[in-house]
Amino acid sequence: MDVNGQTAIVTGGASGLGEATARALAQAGARVGILDTNEELAGRVAARVDGVAVVCDVADSASREAAVAAVRERLGPARILVACAGIAPGTRLTGRDGRASPLERLTRAVRVNLIGTINSCRLAAADMAALEPMDDDNERGCIITTASVAAFEGQIGQLDYAASKGGVAAMTLPLARELAAKGIRVNCIAPGLMDTPMMDGLSGPAKQFLVDTSVYPGRLGSADEYAALVVHVTRNSFMNGSVIRLDGAIRMPP
Ligand SMILES: NC(=O)c1ccc[n+]([C@@H]2O[C@H](COP(=O)([O-])OP(=O)(O)OC[C@H]3O[C@@H](n4cnc5c(N)ncnc54)[C@H](O)[C@@H]3O)[C@@H](O)[C@H]2O)c1
Repeated sequence: MDVNGQTAIVTGGASGLGEATARALAQAGARVGILDTNEELAGRVAARVDGVAVVCDVADSASREAAVAAVRERLGPARILVACAGIAPGTRLTGRDGRASPLERLTRAVRVNLIGTINSCRLAAADMAALEPMDDDNERGCIITTASVAAFEGQIGQLDYAASKGGVAAMTLPLARELAAKGIRVNCIAPGLMDTPMMDGLSGPAKQFLVDTSVYPGRLGSADEYAALVVHVTRNSFMNGSVIRLDGAIRMPP
């Protein structure tokens, strides 16, 4: 798909991978709608990319629907969705005192990361399916979701996060199959350790330990490297139904 002139929605576009994606898509000529819970940061990114910021909770049906309508009204219907909104709480099944962790705490990541992504995909796909096909492949739209290497190698204390990201990765193929008839491609990027505000919660030594487990290059990935992959996947119409690791060959230790 030619990104130039398209409308794109980036959830979680106020920070980190989403912010870099909003910048890269705008640079490639897209009009970008930034959906995020963080009003201030979303507004700042929107101003920078000449886009539109809409406050929304991706996991809330009404909030997400209103946000899509707001972007549609101001920028036109989106042919590109990049779902970056996410949280990484990290919860153990039982606390150090042996008690079961509260269910609400254990299911927060599933709500935002998995249900939020499903919610974003369903609304984006419905809008895309109503558009005219664009090219010889009859392509109508492109969806990119964001999992994590934790989908495959979750660490101790990542039960909730790994479950949510495993779900995001697993839905890639069934979604691509379902939406094929409508000319909508679905791919998922599974990043390793990326240098974003999400990593700020880790102490220096903990971060260094994880960096040391990278094979090559021995550093965190950059948000710009993620964004460059998003732009490539959007442009490359033969990419469909894939979960793509972007991780410097890291395999997370237990
Ligand atoms: N940084 C990493 O190392 C890494 C690795 C693998 C996967 N990921 C995934 O990449 C995605 C982006 O993460 P990041 O590193 O850029 O983190 P980040 O914290 O910098 O950005 C996440 C953004 O999502 C927004 N958000 C959170 N909950 C939301 C909700 N309910 N509705 C709307 N917006 C919401 C936040 O306000 C924030 O702007 C996440 O899904 C994360 O799990 C990150």
